[in-house]
Amino acid sequence: MTGATSGIGREAAAELLRRDAQLHLVMLARGATGRVTLTELQSIRSDVTLVETDLASAASVRAAAETVRRRLDSGDLPPLGGIVGNAGVSFNDAQRSTPDGYETTFAVNVLANHMLLGELAPGLTSPARIVITVSDTHFGDLKHGGGLFKLRWSDPDVLARPGAFPRPGASSAGRSAYATSKLAAIYLVHEWARRLPDGVDIGQAPDGVDIVAYNPALVPGTGLSRDGGLTRIFMRYVTRPLAATPLLDSVPAAGRRLADVILGGATAPTGSYIDRTRAVRSSEESYDPDRERALWEYAERLRTSAAI
Ligand SMILES: NC(=O)c1ccc[n+]([C@@H]2O[C@H](COP(=O)([O-])OP(=O)(O)OC[C@H]3O[C@@H](n4cnc5c(N)ncnc54)[C@H](OP(=O)(O)O)[C@@H]3O)[C@@H](O)[C@H]2O)c1
Repeated sequence: MTGATSGIGREAAAELLRRDAQLHLVMLARGATGRVTLTELQSIRSDVTLVETDLASAASVRAAAETVRRRLDSGDLPPLGGIVGNAGVSFNDAQRSTPDGYETTFAVNVLANHMLLGELAPGLTSPARIVITVSDTHFGDLKHGGGLFKLRWSDPDVLARPGAFPRPGASSAGRSAYATSKLAAIYLVHEWARRLPDGVDIGQAPDGVDIVAYNPALVPGTGLSRDGGLTRIFMRYVTRPLAATPLLDSVPAAGRRLADVILGGATAPTGSYIDRTRAVRSSEESYDPDRERALWEYAERLRTSAAI
């Protein structure tokens, strides 16, 4: 599981350990926050392992997957029953670059998920569930995000680089990068859903592996708006009038719902978009087989390239 150190994922991780006595949680997390969370989660149950991972670095993600595979093979970890890509970032601009030269929002929210799936899905047992946390900002409309999150799709290699959005230093570009990265994550879920059953191009993932996208409600109080700017203002003030409506969840409630989805509680066909508790249609724009294939192939070229 990625993104288990903070916010929705931190709550979900604790919930998983409390609810499923057989479950061993492997956290892919960075530095000090990973170590602190490891200690906290181990106070619930000792079956937690930390694999230090910086999701903004392809080399680090690849090394983490290699560590997990080695420990699975040696029997040091029990069989792999699921993968959760919950980590996400949102910045006040769209011009930050990873050490590999990719725009950080796209690298963490999209490319890291693809790389982990490519490296680990062939090792899943059956049945197993893959969950990727997305966002309803991927609609890019007034109803989902107050019209502040404008989508702007382009060729994957443009989206993956700093400067993909107009005025990349502006907070509007940061919000566009975030919403567009979540649309991309849904595209990848659709393409993985098509490819998983027969393992085309990815080694042999067993039958019985499904993949779903999970959309939390709007959840103030997580670390997501830590970068500040308009997104934080949005979270702090625009969300207040929504507090008594179903459009908004507390961090513990969103974490419980994520844990439900991970444990298979929400029945949904593979490729589904689970809005909090039930499968619904994601945006019309999010069903686009040509974009889905092109993005998957682009991310797959990066995963299998020795260059990063
Ligand atoms: N909050 C909302 O309203 C909302 C709504 C829709 C969707 N979501 C999605 O929900 C997911 C969880 O977000 P949240 O709101 O709970 O935010 P959060 O508290 O900021 O959690 C984000 C998680 O991602 C991890 N992460 C970020 N960059 C990383 C990196 N380079 N390497 C390793 N780990 C990294 C963070 O680790 P550190 O602790 O090390 O920073 C943290 O565990 C995200 O995918 C987000 O897009 C949130």
